[in-house]
This record gives sequence, C-alpha cells and structure tokens, in this order.
Amino acid sequence: MTDLVQLTKDNDIAIITINNPPVNALSPGVPEGISEALDRIAQDASVKAAVLIGGGRTFVAGADIKEFGKMTSGKPRGAGLTPFLLKMEDSTKPVIVAIHGTAFGGGLELAMAGHYRVAVSSAQVGQPEVKLGLIPGAAGTQRLPRLAGVAKAVEMCMTGNPVKAEEALKFGIIDRIIEGDLLAGAIAFAREVAAKPAPKTRERNEKLGNATENASIFSSARETAAKKQRGLLAPVAAIDAIEAATKMPFEEGCKFEQKLFIDCLFSEQSKSLIHVFFSEREVSKIPDIPKDTPLIPIKTAAVVGAGTMGGGIAMVLANAGIPVLLKETDQTALDRGLATIKSNYANSVKRGRFSQQAADERLNRITPTLSYDGFSTVDLVIEAVFEGMALKKEVFKELDRVCKPGAILASNTSTLNIDEIAASTSRPAFVIGTHFFSPANVMRLLEIVRGKATSPEVIATCMQLSKTLGKVGVLVGNCRGFVGNRMFGPYRREAQFLIEEGASIEAVDQALVDFGNAMGPLAVGDLAGLDVGWRINKEYRHLQPPGIRQAFVEDHLCELGRFGQKTGAGWYKYDDQRRAAPDPVVDELIRKWVAEAGIVQRQISAEEITDRCIYALVNEGARILEEGYALRASDIDIIYLNGYGFPAHRGGPMWYADTVGLKKVYERVSEFHRQHGEIWRPAPLLKRLAEQGKTFAQFGKEEGVAT
Ligand code: NAI
Repeated sequence: MTDLVQLTKDNDIAIITINNPPVNALSPGVPEGISEALDRIAQDASVKAAVLIGGGRTFVAGADIKEFGKMTSGKPRGAGLTPFLLKMEDSTKPVIVAIHGTAFGGGLELAMAGHYRVAVSSAQVGQPEVKLGLIPGAAGTQRLPRLAGVAKAVEMCMTGNPVKAEEALKFGIIDRIIEGDLLAGAIAFAREVAAKPAPKTRERNEKLGNATENASIFSSARETAAKKQRGLLAPVAAIDAIEAATKMPFEEGCKFEQKLFIDCLFSEQSKSLIHVFFSEREVSKIPDIPKDTPLIPIKTAAVVGAGTMGGGIAMVLANAGIPVLLKETDQTALDRGLATIKSNYANSVKRGRFSQQAADERLNRITPTLSYDGFSTVDLVIEAVFEGMALKKEVFKELDRVCKPGAILASNTSTLNIDEIAASTSRPAFVIGTHFFSPANVMRLLEIVRGKATSPEVIATCMQLSKTLGKVGVLVGNCRGFVGNRMFGPYRREAQFLIEEGASIEAVDQALVDFGNAMGPLAVGDLAGLDVGWRINKEYRHLQPPGIRQAFVEDHLCELGRFGQKTGAGWYKYDDQRRAAPDPVVDELIRKWVAEAGIVQRQISAEEITDRCIYALVNEGARILEEGYALRASDIDIIYLNGYGFPAHRGGPMWYADTVGLKKVYERVSEFHRQHGEIWRPAPLLKRLAEQGKTFAQFGKEEGVAT
C-alpha cells in the first residue's frame, strides 16, 4: 500500500483514506493505493462495504495538472484511470464515496465509479476540465449523464462550473447529504446498503433520455457554445462526448471520450490554458522579495478623488471589509461619486450578486469627506485625482504631512513617474503605484508599480493586498505606461494605420474579435473615450522623434467632438442604449483625410490586420521584458488576459508568439520594419531569441524588476 492511501476498519466497514495534501490530487500512487485497498477488501470476508474518503480539507480536488504537461511532452500515458475505475465499480462490496470540500475533475470521476456518494452540505462537485481546454478523460462524460441526466451533464462539462451539494442531491449525483460527522454518517450509510447488490453507474441507463429530447439539448448547447465560448474546442468536444454516451454502449463511449480527450490535450488551446493556470500562480513570486518579508497590516484606508477610478477603488476596498475614507475637493463631486457607488451597489443587488444587507454593509464602510481629517490613522492611501504631475505632487506633499509614519501612499496614475511623485514626500520608501483598471470594481488586473525607493515590505504588502481585494497583482517597473498601456499604444496605433491604409473599421475590429479578443481595438477606443489618447498625444507630441509616422484619424475625430460612446459617436455611432452601428460619415471623412495626407489605400487581409496588431504588442512586450520592466513573459500574459480582454485560450501575447514560433514572428516583424520603417524595428530580444531558436518563456531575469 502506498503511503498516499490508508486502509482501516470500523468493524464490518472498511475505510479507505486518501492522504495526498494539500488537495488529494490524483497523483501517481493514489489510484494504485486505492486499487490495492480494494484487493484487500475483496479478500477480507469480515468486510461488508467500504467508505472512500479524503483526509485533510477536501476529497480529491482534481487531477494533478502537472501530469498533463508531462503527457504532452512525450511521457507515455499508460492506460489512464479508466481500468482502475472499472475495477472499483466491479467491486461486489459496495463502495460509498464520502465527499467534503470539492470533488472536481478526476475527483468526481472517481466518486462516480463508486456505488453511492454521500457529502457534507458544504461540499461541491464539478467537471472543470473545460477551463483548461480539456474534457473529462476518465469516463466523466459517460457516467455523469447516467447520474445527473443529459442536460445537467452537458451544462456541467461545458461550463466547468461547480455544483453545490444540495443541487447535486437533486440531480442524483450524490445520494445523501450528511449532517454532522461525515465519516460516521458514511459508515452508517454503508451499513444500510451493505446487504444490497452494488449498483454500477455505467449500467444505469434510465436517465440517458430519448433521441428527440436529446437532439434538442445537444443542438441548443452547440448554439450556446458557438456564441459564448467562441472558437473553443473543449466545450464542443464535451457535448460530442456526452452525445456518444446517449448513442453508444458504455465501453465504446469511453473510447470515444478518450480520443476527444487526447485531441484536446494536445491542442494549443489546452496548452495555453494550462500555461495561464501556472502563470497566475507564478506571478506572486518576486526574486528579491522573500516570502517571509514582513507585511504591513492594512486595517483602514483612504482614497483621494471620487471620480471614475477613485469611486471604484473605494468599492473594492469596502467589498474586502476595509473601512475607507473617500475624499473630494467639493460637495458636488463628492455627491456625484457617491451616487455612482450607490447605483453600482443597487445594480449588484438587482442582479442577485449580493443581498441588500451586504450592499448596505459595504456602503457603510465608505465615509465621504472633504478634508484630510482622519487620514492620520489610516494604513493605506490610494490617490486617484486628475492625471497631472503638479496636482499629484501637491496631493502627496499633503499626504506626507497628514499620514502617520509607516502608512503606504499609493498612486493610481496611469502614465506618470512614480519616483517623481515619491520625491515630493519625505518617505519615498512608502510610495508605490497601484494601477487599477476601469471599471476598478470589475477588472481583475492590478499593476503594482515599483519605484526606485519602494521598500520590500510595501511591495509585499501590496501584492498580498491584491489577493485580499480579489485582484491579480502583477509587479511592474516604472516606465511610461507601465506594462499594459505601454504595449497598448503600438497596438492601437497599428489599428489606426490599417484604417488609413485602406482597411474598414469593421474589418479591423472583426479580425481581432475573430482572433478571440473580447472587443476590437477601435470599439475599445470608443468605450474608453478617444479624448484620453488625444489629450496625451497633445501633451507628449514634443517627445515624439521627428520623421516618425503618426496616426491622425482619432485626433481628427476628437476635433469634431466624436469622443466615442460618451458623446454618442466615435469610430461608430451609438444609440441611447449604447449599441454601435457603422457610420458612413466617418468612412467618408477618413477617405478625405487620407487623400489629403497622400496615402494610397489598398486591400488589406484579415491576416495582416491580426499580425500587425498582435505583433505590435509582442514587439513592445519583448522590449519591456529585456529592459526588465516585467519579471517574466508570463507576467505580461497575465496583464493582457486580466486587463485587456486577450483570449485565455491563446495564453497571452507573449505565449502566443512562442506558439507561433519566434523565428516566424521575427521575420514578419522584420517585413513590417522594411515596409513601415522605424516604428517596427524588431526588439533586440525578439531577434536574439529567434536566432537562438528559443522562446520568451525560456527567458529569465534573476535580478528583479527594473525601476
Ligand atoms: P476623474 O476625472 O473621473 O476623477 C478625478 C477626481 O479627482 C475628480 O472627481 C476630482 O474632483 C478629484 N480631485 C481632484 N483633485 C483632488 C484633490 N486634491 N483631492 C480630492 N479629490 C480631487 O479621473 P479618473 O478617470 O478617475 O482618473 C483618476 C486617476 O486614475 C488618474 O491618475 C488616471 O490617469 C488614473 N486612471 C484612470 C483610468 C481610467 O480608465 N479612467 C484607468 C487607470 C488609471
């Protein structure tokens, strides 16, 4: 017996306990251990039934995700779990699976091969494989419809969403909810059923439905997948596999599932999603900030500025249970900010996200104010006033005066130099950038900007705070635009150039949507407000080196008052529901402006559109990586996935470039360089890695993020 699995007895009931902390993953040794326990139970005449239970905080929470990577990199897979599960199901002594915590993925597949399932009321079950671009690979798609019915199985395997114990009971996935001690309840249940023949899930066909009903379930599921999970292979494969369960005998269905599972496992989509899974865990590791760096307790906070960002940030803090002062300069602005917060909370209650009471509690944690009174006791201040260096300096000087020593002073600036802001205080070690994304209470990304003097404690505290706030914190260096917006500039620039060169507005947006992005670049511009870029362009025009091509269409649109959605017109025109429609007036204007600029328009393919926009991101990302403003290529990916709607199944821009092959990317960038000049000069790192046959993922810097 392996040390991952223990066999004990309670008189006539055997107890098989899985002990593979932290989550009892089905790593090598676990199935073998259970299998050996089943052999002993079969031979022990005194045992009438067995309970299979997880030690520690959960039942089996899933497969060991590292194993998937080993399989695709050539390690032979063997027979998988299926034969072992058949053996368990064939046991003549009933196996009662006792579930607490989560039975996800392989954990649920294991549970379904038992003869009965009992669970505590807080337990959850699910087949989340689709989130890694996979389908269940150990007969989950064949056993689940036999327990839960076809429609529920389709829903669970397509969305990957967990199901709570009560619902699992309703759908027949579990047989009883145990109040009180799970093991004792499971043993009592085992004694009740010990004398009965053990029912095999694979032989229970009564819930598999009839052909007509099933046809409509499958066709509407395929329609939903096409709409909501555009371009993804795994949801469709899950539907196909469950359809096979309704049409083929169990063994054939399992073979069919296996083939689809392998197809998914070897797909770029699954490899990318697994990359995302590991990257999200990697992001909190910072080479020069050890895990045991002391943290500054954040019990109370303040936000300066109750505009778009400040209001959202105050909500984020309040949602996490942190009382927050919200300061404005005048009553009108304060009232406006609070009204927005109230209406956001009211919407959340209306949509059932949380109760009225929870909304009231959150709102009560926000204290509006027009003065700095009370700032002397807070542990953290986040500044979100207008974007302007002089104003920021003034605010930080004041914060330095009123805040207690040891308080963290953070700025939400999106473009300004953190060191310069820090220099206006007497405590630059306590100054940091916390760059939230709009809307701050929704977007998961938080860029944490390290200044030259920022102390390790302050960085470690902000990284930890991002988790408390339900955000993904990514540490970045202090360069203009930081990581996300610095890359976004060239991306949006190319979108505009493509328009000038002859692509239509819809074609540019559609190409990027087809690539998988949540929205096209021009529609994003309309959403964020074209005036933002216009103002920045005006302010920084003097910094542009002469002779470099500048995009002009957006600036011209702004000169006409077309700022995007907020003015009802930008690249598109908008109705009062903010629904976009193409605007022939804009096409006409563009033709005129382009002709005046002497640009000859041409046909542009969708492939060129995606290559130019995405490789513009990649080329800038390569510079950022080499300059050390991001710690890892995967950190850049996490930024794009959580802040910019980049498709997770492409793994992020840097990972995507790796999957295309850097040699190919470099050649294409070089081609654009020849055609369009200096702005497309290949990043030195891209060139070097391409020549060495390496990837961005292999590029590592040990010295920490640059400041
Ligand atoms: P906003 O214009 O909506 O709000 C700024 C607020 O600050 C105004 O309500 C103003 O009355 C208030 N304010 C000005 N001086 C003040 C003072 N001395 N004390 C208290 N309040 C003061 O601006 P927004 O969009 O919220 O931007 C705030 C900051 O966040 C800027 O630095 C901006 O670059 C950054 N940011 C903006 C994003 C966006 O999408 N809007 C995204 C990420 C960062």
